[in-house]
Amino acid sequence: MVLRVVSAILRSPYRLQRIQGHMMSSHVGSEVLLETVGNAGVITLNRPKALNALNISMIRCMFPQLKKWEKDSETDIVIIKGAGGKAFCAGGDIRAVTEAGKSGDSLAKDFFREEYILNNAIGTFQKPYVALIDGITMGGGVGLSVHGHFRVATEKTLFAMPETAIGLFPDVGGGYFLPRLQGKLGLFLALTGFRLKGRDVQRAGVATHFVESQKLGALQKELVDLRSPSMSDVTKLLDSYQEQSTLDIEKPFVLQQHIEAINRLFQADSVEQIVENLKNDGSPFAQKQAETLAKMSPTSLKLTFRQLQAGATMSLQEVLVMEYRLSQACMRGHDFYEGVRAVLVDKDQSPKWKPSTLAGVSEQSVEESFASLEERDLRL
Ligand SMILES: *[C@@H]1O[C@H](CO)[C@@H](O)[C@H](O)[C@H]1NC(C)=O
Repeated sequence: MVLRVVSAILRSPYRLQRIQGHMMSSHVGSEVLLETVGNAGVITLNRPKALNALNISMIRCMFPQLKKWEKDSETDIVIIKGAGGKAFCAGGDIRAVTEAGKSGDSLAKDFFREEYILNNAIGTFQKPYVALIDGITMGGGVGLSVHGHFRVATEKTLFAMPETAIGLFPDVGGGYFLPRLQGKLGLFLALTGFRLKGRDVQRAGVATHFVESQKLGALQKELVDLRSPSMSDVTKLLDSYQEQSTLDIEKPFVLQQHIEAINRLFQADSVEQIVENLKNDGSPFAQKQAETLAKMSPTSLKLTFRQLQAGATMSLQEVLVMEYRLSQACMRGHDFYEGVRAVLVDKDQSPKWKPSTLAGVSEQSVEESFASLEERDLRL
């Protein structure tokens, strides 16, 4: 009897093993689950009540394991997903970061540094990395997915880079992937924080595939069952799931009718010129975008404009070094704290930006935000 069980286990294609949760934590639940299932490394972001928001403990769990899986000959593929059904990851835990910034805690430096190092590890990962972005995927959640080889969106995916609304900028490598989207789409998404849903996340080029949410369980099982899959084996499997997913297939891309206007109006040498273009255009769409930009941090808008302009011709690594400088400039400034207060703490949704107008943001202050931090620069 015992022998039969043992041999059944030995015959089993699965090696199912919980590696570690948060080993140093005294909490019962682990905020990130790291498991091997067959020859797959599976990461589950597991803070469902916080929409799987990424905090530094999670980064510190994930990074070493990812590096181990990259070298380990028994690991062929990595899959990352979110627990709870609502979110993949709604972003970084930036409230904690601004609190640290106020009290002079090192988290304000360490969080961005370690987060960007993780983003780079994903962007350079040597094996297939598949992010199942089922649900809210914003900011830091985008950084955990978009640089990997495969991003699978579902009808529940809600994508945005909403940082200009909180006095930050679209970081986690936003300066790399956004200017590489079609035309001026990335700059539009970066400045306005426009939200893309479902299939449109793929149509914009943020996701590589669209698969209906209910099929993800079966998809994950087949991914795990692949033996030493090449990138093209994974592509084939994802393509076949996509072909079976017909939901919303007839719906046109939400920005289809505006893409010409976006390319024309966001083609400019400055944020001021974009705002001017939008106001002069007179269409309801342009009007609405002008109203959106008027609510954003003027400093964030100018930093973001220049970040994407510079990032268009940089490597991911160069972009992350630049973004680390910008993150620290935001920590030294005013608007990031005010944005987090207005949107996440007091929730009055009426931040008082300083400076309050685009004209008030000097070229020099923008320039200084991009300056080298010398020995405190990010090293990859
Ligand atoms: C990260 O989140 C988990 C789960 O909510 C929590 O137990 C842990 O203390 C957090 N870590 C930090 C550094 O905030």
